[in-house]
Amino acid sequence: MKFFIDTANLDQIREAQDLGVLDGVTTNPSLMAKEGITGGNNILKHYVDICNIVDGDVSAEVISTDLAGMIKEGEALAELHKQIVVKVPMIKEGVKAIKYFSDKGIRTNCTLVFSAGQALLAAKAGATYVSPFIGRLDDISTDGLNLIGEIRLIYDNYGYETQILAASVRHTMHVLECAKIGSDVMTGPLSSIEGLLKHPLTDIGLAKFLEDYKKGN
Ligand code: G3P
Repeated sequence: MKFFIDTANLDQIREAQDLGVLDGVTTNPSLMAKEGITGGNNILKHYVDICNIVDGDVSAEVISTDLAGMIKEGEALAELHKQIVVKVPMIKEGVKAIKYFSDKGIRTNCTLVFSAGQALLAAKAGATYVSPFIGRLDDISTDGLNLIGEIRLIYDNYGYETQILAASVRHTMHVLECAKIGSDVMTGPLSSIEGLLKHPLTDIGLAKFLEDYKKGN
């Protein structure tokens, strides 16, 4: 499973990259605003800065909601850097835009997906990635992980190549469960990745090994 980090914070992106297990980055307008990155040109520059830190795909979201606007924005984003994947919302015009980009060889990430039907449409339109938001479903008493399983089943039934990018991952158990279900990618905060490291028996065992080494020397 690929690991993406879901942030626009350059320090966290560097930290995840340094760990050696990072496959890409996802951002959205809220994550950009959280870092104080506002204004068209600043946002574009920030995408390039992110691409220069990581080796993998970097999702950059369009703001337009009409087809012509999405196409104009998406083409400009794709021109920015070869690692950019154009993030398009799951709305009617978005489906048309994904089809357009797919025909032109521009890679896309269909975002704000909350149902298997939406994921099916995204795959039919030729999305490179589909982003079901599992944490936000959990927030409203609906099983987000169950959606990942439904989409996996549908995509496997027909051999769709669209990659399932589990988004709105909030914690380490989400990461593990996504891996068990067979999500192609997960995107979450750095803490959700670092949580995989932790086990008290590792810490206790290491302390004992180091203590015993010192005794013998
Ligand atoms: O990847 C989608 C993400 O940015 C949304 O996460 O935690 O705001 O639901 P969250």
